[in-house]
Amino acid sequence: MPKSIVGGNWKMNTTLQEAVSLTGLLKDNLKVSQQEGVVLCPPFVYLSAVKDILRGSEIRLGAQDVYFQPKGAFTGEISVGMLKDIGCDYVIIGHSERRQIFKEDNDMVNKKLKSSLQGGVSCIFCVGETLEQRQENLTEKTIRQQIEAGLDEVPSDRYNQIVIAYEPVWAIGTGKNATPEQAQEVHSFIRKLLTHLSNEIVAREMTIIYGGSVTADNIQSLMEGNDINGALVGGASLSADSFTKIVNIIKNSRP
Ligand code: 13P
Repeated sequence: MPKSIVGGNWKMNTTLQEAVSLTGLLKDNLKVSQQEGVVLCPPFVYLSAVKDILRGSEIRLGAQDVYFQPKGAFTGEISVGMLKDIGCDYVIIGHSERRQIFKEDNDMVNKKLKSSLQGGVSCIFCVGETLEQRQENLTEKTIRQQIEAGLDEVPSDRYNQIVIAYEPVWAIGTGKNATPEQAQEVHSFIRKLLTHLSNEIVAREMTIIYGGSVTADNIQSLMEGNDINGALVGGASLSADSFTKIVNIIKNSRP
């Protein structure tokens, strides 16, 4: 049974004060048993402040990106070692906003994945098709390419450090979430693909989460999909109230 994971991707939002207050509220709202598998991903500059508040809780810290080189003349970039140093357990890699706005390709995603895993930071590896790709029936082809290229040269004994996030681009920040059937169809395809890349035992245990306009109102039906093991939440993770509700619904939907 895969572990359930609920990530809050704050993207480029919050002030320091808001980050501190949101983290404090979540720590108070969620019981220890509910905190397991919850990952907060604030902007880089607030990671340390959030980590300080999370001390003594089971909530994990994640970064929204990383660079693959260990150190050197890479102005503006952050290494895996730096993330590890300040207590990050997770990093989001290959988010569609990185791919689309910052032109990250599958090769860059692969380098980031490999260096994060080598450095002992677990990856939330994002994949997803655009609306155009879906309309042209290219969803599976796109996902296959992203996963095969992203996991190139990653040994399958490292897969337990990877969470796959299926985030259809057309569902991100649009209020148009995938239907539970659409999401389950792609999650099941991803698990089959992972079976080919590793084996059934490894693939069965991998956590595959859905992202794209997740709210407290739609998460219950999404979680009915057999291969949906949690969520990566953007907008709704910026409110302690809605993120708490989402976490609770996900935790309660576990058999
Ligand atoms: P929204 O939940 O705001 O649609 O964002 C999803 C996302 O991109 C999470 O990484």
